[in-house]
Amino acid sequence: MTYDRREQVRLLNQDIIGEHDAILHYLTHAWTVAYQFGPQIEQIAKDEMRHLKWLAHTIVALQGVPDLSTPAVIPRASLEEALESDINAEKVAIAQYKEHIAAIADREVQDLLQRIVVDEEDHLRLFHGFRDRQHGKPWGQENSSESVNDAAGKLQLLVSIEYQQVIGYLFSSFIGIHRRSVGMDDEDRAIDEMKHLGWIGQQMANLGQSPLFGNAVSVHEESEMTQYLNVRKWASECQHQLLPLLDRIIQHERYQMQSIASDGWTVGKP
Ligand SMILES: [Fe+2]
Ligand SMILES: [Fe+2]
Ligand SMILES: [Fe+2]
Ligand SMILES: [Fe+2]
Repeated sequence: MTYDRREQVRLLNQDIIGEHDAILHYLTHAWTVAYQFGPQIEQIAKDEMRHLKWLAHTIVALQGVPDLSTPAVIPRASLEEALESDINAEKVAIAQYKEHIAAIADREVQDLLQRIVVDEEDHLRLFHGFRDRQHGKPWGQENSSESVNDAAGKLQLLVSIEYQQVIGYLFSSFIGIHRRSVGMDDEDRAIDEMKHLGWIGQQMANLGQSPLFGNAVSVHEESEMTQYLNVRKWASECQHQLLPLLDRIIQHERYQMQSIASDGWTVGKP
């Protein structure tokens, strides 16, 4: 394990190159052979852009220089080939991040890399889903044993909480002193909450319901987590298809709490 700044910068620059490579390949695939999954793949590329930004901020905090050299894009002739290479890219990224988590001693950098792995693992699941749909397999839907109203009520509570979180983080990012911490600032947190809001809102729309924004529920991160854990428990009994999404959000929330609790620039210190 290393606290050596230069060595950490070297490892994080390998991760930046991987993210850059993924961005260029995914965008190219979304625009060409994989256009039928274009919007979804572009969303994944946007996650990779945020990862690149967090890594670059961390490298600068460690007094290094982010490596933004352009990776070569390998052309893919078919959708199948593109999805196979994207699946492989996610597997390689996950393995590399895990190696770097084991090699880097700074706790904050480890937590950030772990937060990125949460996204990469979900990307892998999504790319597998695109490939399976390509082969005509069903898209993981299960029949609900509970009423639609019950499900919609639970999801609506999450929508109301997430919406308040978006507003709260946006407000502090507009008026607050920008806290400089590794990885995420309040604007990033607001963006995370917007994504959660969007994902849960989509699930409500799948039930034929439209999310409401009026009845805001203002809670702390801890109670947001409690609500998610409650909904997860319910989903594990009767809405299994929601579990991967809920797990991704719960891990995001966990990192939000960790990174808020941290006191700024502590990287590189033993
Ligand atoms: Fe990434
Ligand atoms: Fe990814
Ligand atoms: Fe959230
Ligand atoms: Fe949150």
